[in-house]
Order: sequence, then C-alpha cells, then structure tokens
Amino acid sequence: MAGILGFGGYVPERVMTNDDWSALVDTTDEWITNRTGIKRRRFAADDETTLDLAAAAAERALADAGLEPKDLDEIIVATDTPEVYTPDTASFLQHRLGCRNVPSYDLGGSGCAGFVQAMDVARTRIHFASRRVLVVGVELISRLMSWNDRATCVLFGDAAGAVVMGPGPGEAEVLEVVAGTDGSRWEILTLRTGGTRHPFTAEAAASGAHQNLEMQGTEVFREAVRRMSSSVVDLLHRIDRTISDVALVIPHQANKRIIDAVRHRLGVGEEKVYVNVHEYGNTGSASVPLAMWMARQGGAIKKGDLVALTSFGAGFHWAAAAVQF
Ligand code: ACO
Repeated sequence: MAGILGFGGYVPERVMTNDDWSALVDTTDEWITNRTGIKRRRFAADDETTLDLAAAAAERALADAGLEPKDLDEIIVATDTPEVYTPDTASFLQHRLGCRNVPSYDLGGSGCAGFVQAMDVARTRIHFASRRVLVVGVELISRLMSWNDRATCVLFGDAAGAVVMGPGPGEAEVLEVVAGTDGSRWEILTLRTGGTRHPFTAEAAASGAHQNLEMQGTEVFREAVRRMSSSVVDLLHRIDRTISDVALVIPHQANKRIIDAVRHRLGVGEEKVYVNVHEYGNTGSASVPLAMWMARQGGAIKKGDLVALTSFGAGFHWAAAAVQF
C-alpha cells in the first residue's frame, strides 16, 4: 500500500497583486481577474532560492509525518525552475535536510504535471522497494520568467508543496494514478532557449529569448480541460468508483476558467472543487501539493474522503491520482 505519511507546503511572504502588475505592464486587474480568476500571487524574496522553498515545504511534511530527514530513503523533486542547471535540486535538498546519502533526483521539464507524475514514480518505489520517499513540487518562476510579457507574467506565482510517501496506511492512500504524454503537442507551451537545440548565448540573453515562454493560450486551455477531465474519468473507472464517490477534486490551479470547464465536464458542483488560484496564481509543479496541503489544513478534506488530484503540463503531459483519506 502506497501511503501518504505527511503533508507540507510553503509560500513566500511577498504579495504581488494585479494592480502591482498593471503598474509594470499594459494590463488591468479586470483583465486578469476575468480571464484567469487570479487576484494576487506570492513571489520569493531576493535572498530566497528554489532550494529554500523546497526545504521549507519538506520540513513541514516531515514534521507532519513525525519523521526525521534520516528516515527518508529517496527524494524526488518536480520542478521546471531548478536551483542551478546541473546538478539537480534534489541533490541540494538531500544535503540541506541532512539526509543519508539516499538516491535523489529531479523530475524536470514536465511543468505542472510533474508532482503527480513523481507521486506515481514514488508509488512504484514503495511497492517494489518499500521506500520512504519525499516528493516535492516547487517553482520559483518569478526569477526566470519574462517580466515584460503580459500574456504570461501575470499567470504565475512561487511556492512549494511536499508529501512524504511510504508503506501505508499513513494519513492517506494513493489508490491509483493515471498519467500520459502527447509529445506531438510540445510546441503549445515551450521555452526553447537553453538546451542543445538553441544553446544559451549572448545573443539569446540580449534578445530575452532565454525567458521567452511561448504559449498558445487557447490550445493549452483546450488540451488542459480535455486531459484533466478525461484522466479523472479514467481514474475512477480503474478503481470502480464514480464521480459521486469523490468528496473533493483538486485540479492544477492554472486558471479559474480552466477549473470551471473541468468541473462542468465532470458534472460536479463548486463545493466539490478546491480553488486557491485567486490567492497564489499558477505555481507550476507546486500547485497540486500546495492545494492538497491547504485543503487538509483548512478542513476541506476529512478522514474517509476520496480525493481526485488532476494536473496537466508542458509536454504535453497529464497526470491524475485517486487518494483515499
Ligand atoms: N492584460 C491585458 N491584455 C492581455 C494580457 C494581459 N495580461 N495578456 C494578453 N492580452 C491581450 C492579448 O494580447 C489579446 O489582445 P489582441 O486581441 O489585441 O491580440 C487579448 O488580450 C486576448 O487574448 P487571448 O489570448 O484571446 O485571451 P484569452 O481569452 O484566450 O485568455 C489566457 C488568455 C488567459 C492566457 C487563456 O488563453 C488561457 O487561460 N490559456 C491557458 C493558459 C494557461 O493556463 N497556461 C498554463 C501555463 S503553464 C501550465 O500550467 C502547465
């Protein structure tokens, strides 16, 4: 049994409102609110890095599980905004937490689906190796994105979320995960510069190409709704349950309109869908674990609840999980 033994999350203190953005780029609170539902987001302090956010969430998850860093057997960090290019953020986190020399690795580049994908990997490590696995989703997007591109900059926020998974029962059990990738759709959401195809050069830096997140907004919207809703249907089918058995759906918090469209497709009321995008924006890989931590802290999840997590990300990836509390 793959259990979740503890939950954690962290958001930086600095608040960036829609009005703060409208002072910097050609946008308005009204446009951002109507198109995305986002009112404000948190941005890391100048002296915070991805590692600080990840460590803060991890420490809370460990405390919630009643465990010490030395009790961990493995670490997976899902992020698209790593501490440095090489090595991975998980190496830094293993050292910062003071863990044993346990295998630690990043699941990078799959955007906002990364955390649920990482839970799926952790689940197999528990089944086959009986490991205690720290799974972190973290993003410090504000430092790497373009602050001049109004079409993308207003969407994002910085945060981290974490769970400690291990042989159950724990606080919750991961019953099933559905995940998939359609790599033919990579172009709808991509940051091209920085890899071998388009190396990072002085010219790229001068033109801002290294921060140019290309997004075909309507296509991303359409794929997100289709994949997030169909993966929940598939998930429930696999565990022989129906949507009426689900107490709470926790979708990736990209955009309130996407969340509402998923809700309509699933045929559930607003009270069954967790939303915090208005407060924190799109926090990438941190979005689902942060929402799950906050939902549990705030009493939106009770013992006995079946919770459906569902996410999508650049790739194009999708991943959904059924979690029994
Ligand atoms: N403020 C004001 N105007 C803006 C802004 C802004 N911040 N951004 C874009 N506009 C303008 C555009 O330039 C365009 O102007 P034009 O008509 O003169 O060309 C106009 O607003 C309408 O743009 P659209 O793209 O048609 O607006 P749309 O209704 O599609 O909403 C949005 C845009 C919010 C990006 C939408 O497409 C969407 O939600 N897409 C999904 C994006 C998303 O969630 N991405 C996830 C990121 S990563 C991830 O989570 C995996």
